[in-house]
Amino acid sequence: MDWNKDLYETEWGQEIKNYDEKLAVAKKLAALAKDGDIIGFGSGSTSYLAILELGKRVKNGLKIIAIPTSHEVSLLCAALKIPTLSTNAAKPDWCFDGADEVDSNSWIIKGRGGAMFNEKLTMSLSKKVYILVDNSKIVKKLGTNFPIPVECVRASLLHVKENLLKLGAESVAVRLAGKAKDGPIITEHGNIIIDAKFNKIGKTLEKEIKSITGVIESGLFIGYNIELIKA
Ligand code: 5RP
Repeated sequence: MDWNKDLYETEWGQEIKNYDEKLAVAKKLAALAKDGDIIGFGSGSTSYLAILELGKRVKNGLKIIAIPTSHEVSLLCAALKIPTLSTNAAKPDWCFDGADEVDSNSWIIKGRGGAMFNEKLTMSLSKKVYILVDNSKIVKKLGTNFPIPVECVRASLLHVKENLLKLGAESVAVRLAGKAKDGPIITEHGNIIIDAKFNKIGKTLEKEIKSITGVIESGLFIGYNIELIKA
């Protein structure tokens, strides 16, 4: 991505999978913002498109404040001249984010971008949560296409892996940065991510994963009060 390009419109955008659907969803989301709103901004390509749409409205005079969920989103806000605050300075009136999978109970798997700790925190602080999904994200059974990402402290790797397997994970793999020789991806909080593939995801699993010593957060969201925005 060329960060210096005006509004990032968008060579990168054209490479986004399901671009047209994601753009349609992004436009619907951007239409919801009102003057004075403090909004939690999610990460990932769908959120990126929604932020571009919000940026256009800000350029035309809309007054909002963003609470970004990643450094990448903070930089995007700066480039679009959208003012920001941190989660320690304000709570969002509402937030939006993408998802990797959502089922008919509105249970979600997120975190391909590795930002799930900030995303879950922002969601937990928000009065209203919009989840932006193109049709590829809607599944009958959670875990069909994606593992559950689990962010953990580096020293806890073996312990967390062992306990994820005890909880029924079929496979556990440290997420790597590109090729294996580049080592594990390190999150913005200095931790690693274990991708855990579960065949069966029950309603207690999010809490069970969180209770393993060393786990910071997972990308499993069960029972959150969300509204889906679909293509
Ligand atoms: C990042 C996320 C994303 O919201 C999720 O991976 C969906 O990404 P995209 O909008 O690119 O399909 O959770 O941590």
